[in-house]
Amino acid sequence: MIRTTSKFLRFPAARDAWAQCQKSTAAVSSTLDGLPEMPPCDFQPSAHDGMDYDTVMNIRKTNLNPALFTFYRKPVFIHQGYMQYLWDTSGRRFIDLFAGIVTVSVGHCHPTVVRAAEEQMRKLWHTTNIYLHPKIHEYADKLVSKLPGNLKVVYVTNSGSEANDLAILMARLHTGVFECISLRNCYHGASPYLMGLTALSTWRYNSPTGFGFHHSMNPDPYRGPWGGKHCRDSPAQPGRSCDCIEGECHARDMYVDQLEDVLRYSMPKGKVAAFIAEAIQGVGGAVQLPDGYLKKAYEKIRAHGGVCIADEVDSYN
Ligand SMILES: Cc1ncc(COP(=O)(O)O)c(C=O)c1O
Repeated sequence: MIRTTSKFLRFPAARDAWAQCQKSTAAVSSTLDGLPEMPPCDFQPSAHDGMDYDTVMNIRKTNLNPALFTFYRKPVFIHQGYMQYLWDTSGRRFIDLFAGIVTVSVGHCHPTVVRAAEEQMRKLWHTTNIYLHPKIHEYADKLVSKLPGNLKVVYVTNSGSEANDLAILMARLHTGVFECISLRNCYHGASPYLMGLTALSTWRYNSPTGFGFHHSMNPDPYRGPWGGKHCRDSPAQPGRSCDCIEGECHARDMYVDQLEDVLRYSMPKGKVAAFIAEAIQGVGGAVQLPDGYLKKAYEKIRAHGGVCIADEVDSYN
């Protein structure tokens, strides 16, 4: 998030006045402390009349799970959101470049989404799939019309973790094999089932969760042993020099060889249930894989009888 530096906020009376959307004629102009001014915005957020900062902090320390943590020495105390903006309780406006935590890809409180949610809340709050209801069918129909190839079946879940739990279970049942492979530095959720699949030490705890999960070397052209300046199908490339000619990628092939080794040495009788990977690793730090890595990895996994799971919880956003 970028902190607003609008001039009126530096005067206590204005700063304490409740939310106000500053209007500037220039989208970016310099202010006294050298930071750019916020773009103009016509939205007026409401005044915050709820708990004050100290009360909230006290409740957080006393009554909430101590594992919850905040960013910044003085955490941002958010009151309202609209599209790309957030306002704190004092009315200070922020541009939210983080999209929540990469989860509100259409912005905060988008009027179309609010309208649809409001309409539904007035009609029906809860039903179950033992009855028919049009909405899930409308959703599935619209979604599959946008998906390529034979991706035509939708299984709706509540969270990314639940989706991955289910995908691994389905892969195991479908193949009759238990062993699964993911990449080091991946994040696929932190449920007891998935913690062993996730390979980021910050999200691993001392608990027996890793049965049947193996991690292959992360194909990261920046931090890994192999990578060159033409590794990726992206405007952002590693700075390393590279002798690869058009259509070749030495790093990709070396990382695929590492996967081949896991298949060869760690899979019972060379059989695998599933390979799961993020198209772009999110929690692990926006890591892009070498161009063509996933295509080759998928070919190998399928040749060993496994299914390939694309976890796009973060990269899609
Ligand atoms: C790639 C990926 N997979 C799975 C998850 C888990 O999703 P959720 O937090 O909705 O359970 C996340 C969450 O950050 C994620 O980034």
